[in-house]
Amino acid sequence: MNLKIAALSGDGIGPEVVLQAKKALSAIAVVFDHEFVFEDALIGAIAIEKTGNPLPEQTLNLCLNTDAVLFGTVGDISQDSAIDIKSSPIQGLLKLRQALGLYANVRPIKPYNDLLDLSPIKRKIIQGTDFVIFREISGGSYFSEKKINEQGTIASDLCEYTENEIIRITHLAFKAAQKRKNKVTLVDKASILETSRLWRKVVKEISASYPEVTVEFLLVDYAAMQVIMNPNQFDVILTENLFGDILSDEASVITGAIGLLPSASIGNSTALFEPIHGIFSEAKKKNIANPIASILSAAMLLEHFGLHLESEKVYEAVQKAIELNVVTADLNPYSKFGTNEVGDFIANYIASKDDLYFK
Ligand code: IPM
Ligand code: MN
Repeated sequence: MNLKIAALSGDGIGPEVVLQAKKALSAIAVVFDHEFVFEDALIGAIAIEKTGNPLPEQTLNLCLNTDAVLFGTVGDISQDSAIDIKSSPIQGLLKLRQALGLYANVRPIKPYNDLLDLSPIKRKIIQGTDFVIFREISGGSYFSEKKINEQGTIASDLCEYTENEIIRITHLAFKAAQKRKNKVTLVDKASILETSRLWRKVVKEISASYPEVTVEFLLVDYAAMQVIMNPNQFDVILTENLFGDILSDEASVITGAIGLLPSASIGNSTALFEPIHGIFSEAKKKNIANPIASILSAAMLLEHFGLHLESEKVYEAVQKAIELNVVTADLNPYSKFGTNEVGDFIANYIASKDDLYFK
């Protein structure tokens, strides 16, 4: 298969981790006889620095004319609250999600057996956890009207959802549940929010077309508690933008490190693949950032194109790295391996013919 992949590594540790994902994909291309062509482009704070725009025209055009986007991280903590929200680095990502019509951000949560003790949550609680968050990313308070009065003393973020926005992601969530454990949990705050009541109504209606899928409704405060008290009850969690953002970072505690979690953003055209973690500026250029979330995002990219064996191979390589302790310090404080070494191990494992690598 020929794939043109836009690589938008962005800020902070983005460039380092995306580089490792590229290495893994290049190894896959060689072993499975594909052609993956990467094209780099600017986004985020680095794009502002070089062009004045967090999402330069050139980057947008590239993304609109490519098969997939491999995304790093964007942001600049020194600027988070200091500058106008509309021109902040993360607008690069938000505008790109909008321009590509991306509406579902898929975030799988499944701890590795070898890392169960890394989580502050008891082993017996997290063992066997395997759920996926379907987070709506095109609407809600992220994209609805924002206001601040002239004095800067009253601010508001509208949270708006249309029925259609809810319908399309709900179908994706139910279809995913059919291939998994046949359960969808809608997380909302229907006791207080009109948008949540609309979500419930739509999800209830749609659930009738998926009789084999059990549907459950949880208020977000209670759900936040359940995610870490009894994560085994979940299969597919469906939720709106902000709740999904919060719940997915919380759920990363189950896996022991946020640097392990990938995501796929799916929509009308080009899909985008990115780790769920942020820029982690403190680690920038220190060769200590965990590249696994980015590498697994590349695995999700492969899966998206139906390249199941290829995707499996990447998961297997990551599993091997964890098993053999070829991991960064967030997973093992005594580790002597850095971002590059972990990336090299994974790429080499993929490239090695019959698992001879460590014999
Ligand atoms: C994420 C990030 C983004 C979000 C930011 C960078 C806009 O936190 O992908 O989870 O809130 O969606
Ligand atoms: Mn987030």
